[in-house]
Amino acid sequence: MNLNDPPLQEALDSCETPAALVDLERVRRNLDTAMAYCEAHGLGWRPHVKTHKSPELGALQVARGARGLTVATPREAEVMAAVCGDLLLAHPPVGPKVERILRLPESVRLTVALDSPDLAATLAEAASGAGRTVGVLIEIDVGMGRVGLPHPDDVVSLARQLRSLEKGGGLEWRGILFYPGHIRVAASEQAPLLADVSKRLGRVLVALGQAGLHPEIVSGGSTPTFFQSHQIAGLTEIRPGTSIFHDRDSVGLGVAHLDEVAYTVLATVVSVGVPGQAVVDAGSKALAKEEFRALPGEGGYGQLLDRPEVRVSGVSEEHGILELSSTDWRPRVGDRVRIVPNHVCVSVNLQDRLLAWDGSTLRPLALSGRGRLP
Ligand SMILES: Cc1ncc(COP(=O)(O)O)c(C=O)c1O
Repeated sequence: MNLNDPPLQEALDSCETPAALVDLERVRRNLDTAMAYCEAHGLGWRPHVKTHKSPELGALQVARGARGLTVATPREAEVMAAVCGDLLLAHPPVGPKVERILRLPESVRLTVALDSPDLAATLAEAASGAGRTVGVLIEIDVGMGRVGLPHPDDVVSLARQLRSLEKGGGLEWRGILFYPGHIRVAASEQAPLLADVSKRLGRVLVALGQAGLHPEIVSGGSTPTFFQSHQIAGLTEIRPGTSIFHDRDSVGLGVAHLDEVAYTVLATVVSVGVPGQAVVDAGSKALAKEEFRALPGEGGYGQLLDRPEVRVSGVSEEHGILELSSTDWRPRVGDRVRIVPNHVCVSVNLQDRLLAWDGSTLRPLALSGRGRLP
């Protein structure tokens, strides 16, 4: 995707900025890389749609070999049910969410991750009342300290409870799930952290095995650890989300090169009045104000795709400051730039739509998985 391509330039001429651009050629390449890795290591691929929230891209992931999709919200589940018959809700559905997910089409094989005996009991009763069977993965904590049971004994106890709840017909215990979201260092530095994850997971698997409980699914994975997933013994599937587009964090961690980044925010230079900087019309309401987690010392809120030495050094709501100290480039008002945000998932969530370029046409992609309402 080259901004100087005459057909793209023409298509973008009338496009108001900031606008979220998706390079479909790169998306397809990223998806094929993901599937090839999973095939090479005997892992199932269940990408997380929280990154793109687009049914069209969910359908593309399924067409490229995903065994199912991961969602975080009931809204994402409802939208993705139209393109995929196998959904994992990787977020505990507490409260009215239970009834809502039970209204998903009968044809959807639904699995839910949870770590609470109370929620398991509530879900079992509601599912059996609704005449459907919901799969359950027990979430375990492997070091992130967010959700999940850290102690193997508690996992065994919940698995036993789930086995017993299976008799009511509403639930089926399918396995365990974890998210190694605390690992945000370069691949070359991940070995000890992955060994620790393996150790924690191994303890749970041994304890379950000793109790005669054998998980059919062991679901893990993230984008920073993507290509190291095979180092975690016992995994059956992975759930990368960010890797469909990648972002400045992915590049900073060395998981992706800049030429694999498939999502950028197109912005226009609106002022060069203050020496040493240029101001664009994309601020925190288009890029988000997420810290640069890969290399916190470098700071900023994004970098230019075509001039990576230029950072977005500051943002206010509708303004982004491009810092020009490390470039000879002297932008003019009206120039357009493509910005790689630090964390793509949050930037996508701020957009009304994506504009996808497939090499010859620019077309909108609906972000219908955004929001909370049914
Ligand atoms: C439970 C769960 N699984 C998978 C993912 C995907 O992670 P990533 O975007 O790093 O690939 C996330 C991200 O937030 C998550 O919370």
